[in-house]
Amino acid sequence: MRLLLLFCWAMLAAGSFSVGQELEVTPETFIAYKILEVFPRGRRVVITCHSPQVPPPVTYSLWGSQGTEVAKKVVKTGDPASFSINVTLKSRPDLLTYSCQAASPWGVHSASTKLQMYWELWTKPVSQLQANFTLLDKASGPRVEISCQVSSGSPPITYSLVGKDGSVHTQQRPNYGQPANLSFTLTNTSNWLQCQAENDISVQSSPFKMVPPGCDQKRQAWQSPLEGPVFVYCGRTHHLKE
Ligand SMILES: *[C@@H]1O[C@H](CO)[C@@H](O)[C@H](O)[C@H]1NC(C)=O
Ligand SMILES: *[C@@H]1O[C@H](CO)[C@@H](O)[C@H](O)[C@H]1NC(C)=O
Ligand SMILES: *[C@@H]1O[C@H](CO)[C@@H](O)[C@H](O)[C@H]1NC(C)=O
Ligand SMILES: *[C@@H]1O[C@H](CO)[C@@H](O)[C@H](O)[C@H]1NC(C)=O
Repeated sequence: MRLLLLFCWAMLAAGSFSVGQELEVTPETFIAYKILEVFPRGRRVVITCHSPQVPPPVTYSLWGSQGTEVAKKVVKTGDPASFSINVTLKSRPDLLTYSCQAASPWGVHSASTKLQMYWELWTKPVSQLQANFTLLDKASGPRVEISCQVSSGSPPITYSLVGKDGSVHTQQRPNYGQPANLSFTLTNTSNWLQCQAENDISVQSSPFKMVPPGCDQKRQAWQSPLEGPVFVYCGRTHHLKE
């Protein structure tokens, strides 16, 4: 289609007609998704379509695989349209492809790129794991809280707090897009801990961290915004003399 338009445009230009106005503007339509809920073989997602350059009212239609229209919405403002849908796992990845089309009453229309839901929802490895360790001195005793999150990866994602010997101290499966908040009660012996994120496709781990922090470890490496200096836990009492 785009090729054809280009071809027409080229012909018009060559013939020195002065009607290129509509063809010159090729409004872009964006498609994006967010996972709302994860079921064993399905996910509830919201797909948003936006064509900021198409003058409202804009009729947005969501197209599924093989040219089927899934839903349609008219948006009278310049806002995006949202479609909440259930995507169920299909054995054929090509059956899980979505695209949006935006149309205005004045004939401007534009289609988005294709969103390949199968690959997005079922085959994306976990990537860019971030783990923040924070020391807290609560009434119940000193603890370290670890906040872990990956920047992308197909759900569900399980986060674990793992020791150097491979033991799993605690596990959490937060809602998609939320960080996991793992907690570890400090003892008077040191432990090496890492956060691990795992989905059906891959595993990623943060570097090991020693808790309580070793006496030779830099304090800056630790965040303790509310609880004051970290060195209180560094070998306990004898380090207060430091
Ligand atoms: C989506 O699927 C889930 C589980 O299969 C179901 O509970 C829910 O009602 C469905 N939602 C819609 C909008 O179809
Ligand atoms: C970790 O800390 C950084 C810097 O404060 C912050 O940008 C990031 O969102 C935090 N990540 C997690 C998973 O808490
Ligand atoms: C972890 O804490 C953050 C910030 O308080 C919160 O948004 C998130 O929902 C929490 N995660 C879980 C699994 O409770
Ligand atoms: C840790 O504390 C326990 C008692 O709370 C004590 O028996 C043990 O010797 C201590 N271990 C170290 C390495 O200080």
